[in-house]
Amino acid sequence: MATRKPLISGNWKMNLNHFEAIQTVQKLHYLLPKDIFEQVDVTVHVPFTDIRSVQTLIDSEELDLILGAQHCHWQDSGAFTGEVSPAFLEKLNVKYVVAGHSERREIFGETDEMVNKKVAAIQQHNMVPIVCCGETLEERELGETESKVLGQIEAALAGRSNEQVAALVVAYEPIWAIGTGKTATAEDAQLVCHAIRQKLRVMTDDATAGAVRIQYGGSVKAVNAAELMGQADIDGALVGGASLDPDEFARLVQFSAPNSV
Ligand code: 13P
Repeated sequence: MATRKPLISGNWKMNLNHFEAIQTVQKLHYLLPKDIFEQVDVTVHVPFTDIRSVQTLIDSEELDLILGAQHCHWQDSGAFTGEVSPAFLEKLNVKYVVAGHSERREIFGETDEMVNKKVAAIQQHNMVPIVCCGETLEERELGETESKVLGQIEAALAGRSNEQVAALVVAYEPIWAIGTGKTATAEDAQLVCHAIRQKLRVMTDDATAGAVRIQYGGSVKAVNAAELMGQADIDGALVGGASLDPDEFARLVQFSAPNSV
């Protein structure tokens, strides 16, 4: 069986200015035992205006935390007022970029086609896309979870080589579980993540599908992290609210380490 190092990602969304970001990242790093990073990769997806400050902190103090972004455009430059180029993120040592978060899809009209172009652009710039998928409550109740989620994955990854698929991350985030305090049961989350891996197997091959890290997201906290991470096809978490509090997030990271389960 493939060994996949868990990836715990804090998605701050539109929270914490650059002063608060520096304090939060410093505190988080201080709270985490140094050897945890051998077991778990930890990314922080800060707002654009915080990236330069956090990059300087990570680089100058040689922190083990990995810098992430929440979104980018697919073009390198041009007349796209308000957008941010993936080339600019690469220059700032950003390593992971979220693509197709449900909030971008639902609030800002991001389509599967845009997500596909973003995934390609992020990889073109040597960064790792975290490709999000997930169903609404209505879709879940209609029994459409798998068709929605697997359709999003198929569209987002169209045109990627097996090698490129192996290098990316998928995040399964049921929309009804985001910021609501409702978490999918570990068994339900595992079922969908398993279906995603099966889909990846069909799109690529066994080795490729076995290499992809699949995160669960939606009200993940320190108290439920270990059970979720203990599932065979869940290799990490994309965490919103709980990542804003360094004490809570540090506990969550530690409970996600393979030997804590
Ligand atoms: P919460 O952890 O606040 O539910 O947010 C999940 C999420 O959307 C992470 O991208």
